[in-house]
Amino acid sequence: MYLATAALLGALACVRLGVDAQVPPATPQSTGFNSSFTLSHEQVQLAQLSESVARSIEAITNYDRSQLAFGGPLEDDFYTLPPLTNQAGPVAPGTLLKVQPVTDPTSYVIPPNTALSRILYTTTNLNGTVIPTSGFVLWPYQPRRFSGGSTRTNSSSPAPVVLWTHGASGTFPNNSPSSHRALWFGYAAPFALALDGYAVVAPDYAGLGISKSWDGSDIPHEFLAGPAAANDALYALCAAWDAFPGMLSSDFVVVGHSQGGGAAWAVSEALEARPDEFPRQVRGHRGTVAGSPTTDVFAGLPEVVLPWVGMVLDKVFSDFRLESWLTPLGIARTKLLGEVQGGIGVTQQLYLSDGDVVKADYNETSWHAAAYHRLASSGRKAFKGPMLVLQGTDDLYVRYETTDSTVRDTCDSFPGAELEFLVLPGVAHVPALPATQPLWLRWIADRFEGRPVARDGCHRRKLKSFLPIEQYQVHGNSFPQWAGSPEYSYQVPLGP
Ligand SMILES: *[C@@H]1O[C@H](CO)[C@@H](O)[C@H](O)[C@H]1NC(C)=O
Ligand SMILES: *[C@@H]1O[C@H](CO)[C@@H](O)[C@H](O)[C@H]1NC(C)=O
Ligand SMILES: *[C@@H]1O[C@H](CO)[C@@H](O)[C@H](O)[C@H]1NC(C)=O
Ligand SMILES: *[C@@H]1O[C@H](CO)[C@@H](O)[C@H](O)[C@H]1NC(C)=O
Repeated sequence: MYLATAALLGALACVRLGVDAQVPPATPQSTGFNSSFTLSHEQVQLAQLSESVARSIEAITNYDRSQLAFGGPLEDDFYTLPPLTNQAGPVAPGTLLKVQPVTDPTSYVIPPNTALSRILYTTTNLNGTVIPTSGFVLWPYQPRRFSGGSTRTNSSSPAPVVLWTHGASGTFPNNSPSSHRALWFGYAAPFALALDGYAVVAPDYAGLGISKSWDGSDIPHEFLAGPAAANDALYALCAAWDAFPGMLSSDFVVVGHSQGGGAAWAVSEALEARPDEFPRQVRGHRGTVAGSPTTDVFAGLPEVVLPWVGMVLDKVFSDFRLESWLTPLGIARTKLLGEVQGGIGVTQQLYLSDGDVVKADYNETSWHAAAYHRLASSGRKAFKGPMLVLQGTDDLYVRYETTDSTVRDTCDSFPGAELEFLVLPGVAHVPALPATQPLWLRWIADRFEGRPVARDGCHRRKLKSFLPIEQYQVHGNSFPQWAGSPEYSYQVPLGP
């Protein structure tokens, strides 16, 4: 031990010889380091917040805002819509509006030797209206190469594409993954994929990033609306192919988690149901990985799902009134959520802390929940396979029973469907991704190699942890903290 340390110090000493050593002064860093938000007295009163909930919302908002690269979409000029030129007709979905080929990575926490680009492009919402949204491409240092049959690639081939559909982040511009220092899911997916040699093409679902269309109208985030999220994802591919000709493979695998697991599943359904809208994507699609997928909109926590869906539902059903789902308290707190652009943490404080926010009879007094479920939920439809579904049994947000029942119904209705259902005992929500990372990375590579899936048709497989499950860390309890200023550089092992 001593010898090793001495050798290391010796080596460092050698390296430093002749170098004018300049170590910057170190400063303690808080997680709310780039924001000093406080609620006004009026906001606290109108939303009937206790002292403790008010302080919690401030702490979370300061943390969330400190995670925004370049201050986030409300301050970052990248998210400003370019004017519509060439007004010969309505702009088509999948049109590239803006490309930032080199996004300054210094404000992000992306891994070293990955690179970031961002795009603005058009998509369509549930009712077919063309709207703008944003997205990113995360590039690997070395693209993964394949030797299999027709998919053989070499050093001048484009990078293989994974289309990443993100898990729930919120419903406002500041909740867009493309403006989050860790691209929201960090090492759980986009970083893991880029480090494994894939170019990660990722939409921000409509309403995140950009919230106003050219005519000034609001762009609602249609939470958990499978077909709309599928549009956002599939049109992101068109825009990315257009932005980077010859650099992104036409073959792709779509991977998503939670809201994005539902979105990835919906991509498979859209390719089956609407092939004429997505001919290149139908040809290029090699498979789908749906992690902890949302397949039943209202099976989630009503205190979160009802406000998030309800706050824009009048744009889908014009006679909908939020009063039919939420109490006056719920409505006041939803207004505050919008004012602070709150994400998941603020949402939990507002709706799960105290007081009744949801009307118990919301589903009896209004037909809108049942109708939105039919319109929005993924599953129980024909889909383009193969699909790998991952689901932990200890998932609090997407319950195992919900996914199990969707898989069963889908397989009963479409017995020939290529669906592999991986059950992960003792595994929680987001941890379903790291728990099985080697497995899904291998599954993706096999699709690019052109290998057939291990077994035809629908089947289920239950995994077992290598060690007794009690030995494992259940939930993630850390995050990549930005340390990009010299006074914080001591936080990065042998960093800058
Ligand atoms: C801190 O926030 C400000 C204002 O929102 C923003 O302009 C700046 O880029 C942020 N700093 C970093 C290092 O991201
Ligand atoms: C490399 O792959 C590209 C297609 O990805 C192909 O057009 C080209 O002929 C290949 N080059 C060699 C030397 O095999
Ligand atoms: C379609 O959606 C847009 C934006 O979400 C909304 O402004 C418009 O009223 C909707 N149209 C119909 C016919 O519902
Ligand atoms: C809501 O009501 C519909 C019938 O109107 C029913 O199919 C659905 O299961 C109900 N959903 C919930 C969450 O109770």
